[in-house]
Amino acid sequence: MNPRTLHLDGMQFFGRLASEYRAMFGVDVRDLRGLRVLDCPGGPSSFTAEACAAGAHAVAVDPLYELDADQLRARGEADIQTTIAAMRANAGAFADMDIARYADEKRAAAQAFLADYPAGRAAGRYVAASLPSLPFPDRAFDRTFTAHLLVTYSDPASGGLLPGSPFTEQWHVDAVRELLRVTDGSLHLYPTTTRTEPARRHAYLERIVAELEAGGTWRCRYEPSTYQRGNAAQNLLNASLVIERRRGS
Ligand SMILES: C[S@@+](CC[C@H](N)C(=O)[O-])C[C@H]1O[C@@H](n2cnc3c(N)ncnc32)[C@H](O)[C@@H]1O
Repeated sequence: MNPRTLHLDGMQFFGRLASEYRAMFGVDVRDLRGLRVLDCPGGPSSFTAEACAAGAHAVAVDPLYELDADQLRARGEADIQTTIAAMRANAGAFADMDIARYADEKRAAAQAFLADYPAGRAAGRYVAASLPSLPFPDRAFDRTFTAHLLVTYSDPASGGLLPGSPFTEQWHVDAVRELLRVTDGSLHLYPTTTRTEPARRHAYLERIVAELEAGGTWRCRYEPSTYQRGNAAQNLLNASLVIERRRGS
């Protein structure tokens, strides 16, 4: 196994388009019309803005939503530059990706997010909060999405990107429990694999899935994903994790 993969010095305020969420999760915003939707963390993703435009009742959560639009614009552009530089420095791990196009998509997402943010924040659509504690009642959302925080920012020893990560295995257990507490229908989590070469299913998730399946309330499955993770070795086992509430539970 090649241990040399992307590592990052800190959390990135870095967000994706709804089309990228569709690739990650296999869910189109048009399918969310009329549903209560949570995106946590939202970051500078345009998913919530695009889902609301498609008729969903969508809310995004991120600790950085305590900042205003100008602060987030500056932070977002700096983090795009940091992430893209780190990807170029590890180009072998991203051999199957067009990194310039990838950067363009992140800037387009940030632009659409920032266009919605001031009014959306005033309307309660962008909420400043941090996992593992969310300011919502039980079962407040039909669909919950969580992308590029769990697994991604775990410690490199577990297969994540962040040396000295505060996101331990117990934090992941608590975060998933909290996301499920506020979910009435299904929780969708991405990515599910490590940043090692070859990629493998992240061990924290495997243990969380085993515990949930044994509990009887939730059913878990991996849904194949078309979102590009990098090169062929990084795209192995590429899937989102879908955790659905069992009927009557
Ligand atoms: C890489 S972004 C992911 C955004 C989006 N989900 C996507 O996939 O494009 C990660 C986000 O996690 C946020 N974050 C950091 N700690 C968090 C926590 N404890 N709870 C929720 N979000 C957190 C960061 O502020 C950052 O915006």
